[in-house]
Amino acid sequence: VEENEEPQMSQEEKDKIADAAAEAATPFGINDAMVTPATRLDFGDYQCNAAMGLAKNVGMSPRDCATKIVDGLRPIIGDIMEEPEIAGPGFINLRFKKEYLEKSVQGMAKDPERLSVPVVGNKKKIVVDFSSPNIAKEMHVGHLRSTIIGDTLSNVLEFSGHDVVRLNHVGDWGTQFGMLVEHLRDEFPAALNKETSQNVDLGDLVTLYKAAKQRFDKDDDFKVRSREGVVKLQAGDAEALAAWESLCAASRVEYQKIYDALNIKGLEERGESFYNPFLNGVIDDLEKQELAVESDGATAVFLDGYTNRDGSPLPMLVRKSDGGFNYATTDLAAIRHRTEFDDGEKADRVLYVTDAGQSQHFEMVFAAAKKAGFLPETVSLEHVPFGLVQGEDGKKFATRSGDTVKLRDLLDEAVRIAGEDVRSRREDPEAELPDDVKEVVKTVGIGAVKYADLSMNRESNYKFSYERMLSLNGNTAPYMLYAYARICGIVRKATGQEEGQSVQWPEPADIVITDEAETQLIRNLVKLPDVLSEVENDLYPNRLCDYLFETSQMFNKFYEACSVNNAETEEIKASRLSLCTVTAGTIRLLMGLLGIKVVERL
Ligand code: ARG
Repeated sequence: VEENEEPQMSQEEKDKIADAAAEAATPFGINDAMVTPATRLDFGDYQCNAAMGLAKNVGMSPRDCATKIVDGLRPIIGDIMEEPEIAGPGFINLRFKKEYLEKSVQGMAKDPERLSVPVVGNKKKIVVDFSSPNIAKEMHVGHLRSTIIGDTLSNVLEFSGHDVVRLNHVGDWGTQFGMLVEHLRDEFPAALNKETSQNVDLGDLVTLYKAAKQRFDKDDDFKVRSREGVVKLQAGDAEALAAWESLCAASRVEYQKIYDALNIKGLEERGESFYNPFLNGVIDDLEKQELAVESDGATAVFLDGYTNRDGSPLPMLVRKSDGGFNYATTDLAAIRHRTEFDDGEKADRVLYVTDAGQSQHFEMVFAAAKKAGFLPETVSLEHVPFGLVQGEDGKKFATRSGDTVKLRDLLDEAVRIAGEDVRSRREDPEAELPDDVKEVVKTVGIGAVKYADLSMNRESNYKFSYERMLSLNGNTAPYMLYAYARICGIVRKATGQEEGQSVQWPEPADIVITDEAETQLIRNLVKLPDVLSEVENDLYPNRLCDYLFETSQMFNKFYEACSVNNAETEEIKASRLSLCTVTAGTIRLLMGLLGIKVVERL
């Protein structure tokens, strides 16, 4: 084995294999015989199912087609794969050679930062629009999901080598501000003064919002004033702006607390108000192209294929009858700023992480933007929808009294339960926990909330359960954190390191496979780049959790079958220690991408 040889199968090698399969299939007139990662480990490491599709077209049996493809593959995969196996009607299974597995995992051990995950060749500028709460309103569990999923996807894309811009599309503009500004005028006059507005204590913003709304609904004079308030604000009236800014500042303090608790970094606030200067331009350009038309006094875009339930065309409103703009208008302006304008982000890809309820909104906005030529053709706009968080009873997630759950309370509760669990297992369960243990407890509690969310297929609804997310059994954060700490313990013991010190990971050693359990663990470990590129393309973070869970299970089987401490020889011991190191590194890396810090002792 050459020292400087590329340890992982490089993209180039993978492409070569795929090309060879395609070429082998070409005589049949089809060019898409693809080689893909195997869907099940017992199918091998890679598979090619192209023969089945080809057979009909060429009047040949699928097995004969498969044989033909294998002939094309053989010279390319020689050093890496075993002789391809044709299974069933014509599935081609490809299996790594033992030497290749040894070499690959050895390469991973030598590269603890990236574990041989290549940096992408085609670096892209990617905007991830996530979190995006609304000013003066409660940040709810939907925003929590958006924050957690958006952060993880950003981390994965960044790790792949892309240039990621995390944007918080805060709802800081709209007609509700008229009523809020007027309410402040009466109740908190200092908020209307630019000098003092930032420091006014507005109290609980939700209470404030409710009070303003109540007046708006009951008091006609107030309603009129509120409408005028919006106009003033839009016209840049100094008092209205000061009041608006005081609301934004107070909200910002609130959601920053959540970001701090979740350890969310690098999220740039780019609220809806930022796009105000571009809204008229959006309407003008839509009108010029006759895409925007008058509709019941308002301005709307009609798109093919979008209808109401009764079959009538469904308008996408871009300007209200009173001249105000809509949610969609801002999103159209944002698309231009993110992709088209020279002084904007010039993104190649824009992701929008919101609840699935907004799917139609984004479909229509994307379609309108494309039709209007608001973005270069190569840019990809992608909605990343997610389902609802439900209570354990499957109903709306709420407190016992039926109120919405405050995110702060939710996170605090997870940490509290994690703390109680830790305390109950200590010598004196009544004693206060030492500071370092408190930190660990926070990691476990917050990590459990994050992991529970990320481990679900994001498109399905899930039932929020402290018990399940904090369980030590199953695909949970505590399980993974314990798995990591356990490997740390194994390495400490096998190398005679002190308990209290941070683990010194052993030098990478030559890998020698002596047992089937080692083979299975390594086959899993070398899949890491494929898993990450899958997430990069399909944007399903649960793939990371599934893989973590699989990896830790493979590790358990390995550890059951193969003694590390009492290995047959020093070489085998060193090899097994390297497997521990790479497994721990994989867990640490992926947990990091999920926004969860591992700890060496629990
Ligand atoms: N503020 C919106 C909400 O709370 C989410 C905004 C999502 N991003 C966007 N560009 N529309 O639902």
